[in-house]
Amino acid sequence: MSTAELPPSKLGTKEHWDEVYERELVNFDEIGDEGEVWFGEDSVEKMVDWCIDNVPPSSNPSVLEIGCGNGTLLFGLLEAGYDASRLAGIDYSAGAVKLAQGIAATKDGEAITLSECDFLNDTPSHLASDADGGALEYWNLLLDKGTYDAIALGDKDADGKSPAAGYPARVARILRPGGLFLITSCNFTAEELKASFTTPELGLVYHSQVRHPTITFGGQSGSVVTTLAFRKPQTP
Ligand SMILES: C[S@@+](CC[C@H](N)C(=O)[O-])C[C@H]1O[C@@H](n2cnc3c(N)ncnc32)[C@H](O)[C@@H]1O
Repeated sequence: MSTAELPPSKLGTKEHWDEVYERELVNFDEIGDEGEVWFGEDSVEKMVDWCIDNVPPSSNPSVLEIGCGNGTLLFGLLEAGYDASRLAGIDYSAGAVKLAQGIAATKDGEAITLSECDFLNDTPSHLASDADGGALEYWNLLLDKGTYDAIALGDKDADGKSPAAGYPARVARILRPGGLFLITSCNFTAEELKASFTTPELGLVYHSQVRHPTITFGGQSGSVVTTLAFRKPQTP
């Protein structure tokens, strides 16, 4: 299904996510509950394992999660040995950022950069630790777990275009040459993700797929979620 075909839902609104994180913040403050693990622990583990294999902590990568929510994936990377000062997460919901910061403080993750940023309209700030000269193509690794899905459920514009239409270009422009983008989605198949992220104008190429358990229903087999990686080639 293309992004233009998905019917809008409340999951595509900022109001929805603000309400979710307001509720999760209360639960965190009252009983220490860290909130929902989107797509489950297994997805987190598979994404972290892929990162270790393809962009290991020893390469000291700059890593940004787009739409980090409560930060579960970033904390998985922290636990796997990635340097906290090289990890960043952005979310457009202030409550998500506050929740992730609260959880980070319980995991020695205070050095992770967590900030409020609307990915479709603003450029995420670089890591404070880096004297990089402000290069636009900055990140070695970009991560998305459920955010492109949520954005694709936003209201369409007058031409019927989904807000997600602008997302792949924003990924491509902030990724460093040679950098990787890893995305897990429940709304799009591998073929659909490839069609959106490997157009000639973007310059990204397909890199690899992470396998998830398949389910069979009505004679059809498939995975509940799809995880794919794309690479920005080195400039010649
Ligand atoms: C399905 S949740 C996933 C959260 C997190 N990645 C996880 O796995 O738990 C989608 C997240 O994307 C965030 N989000 C949606 N649109 C965004 C945008 N335009 N810019 C930044 N964050 C956004 C939401 O606030 C929400 O935290």
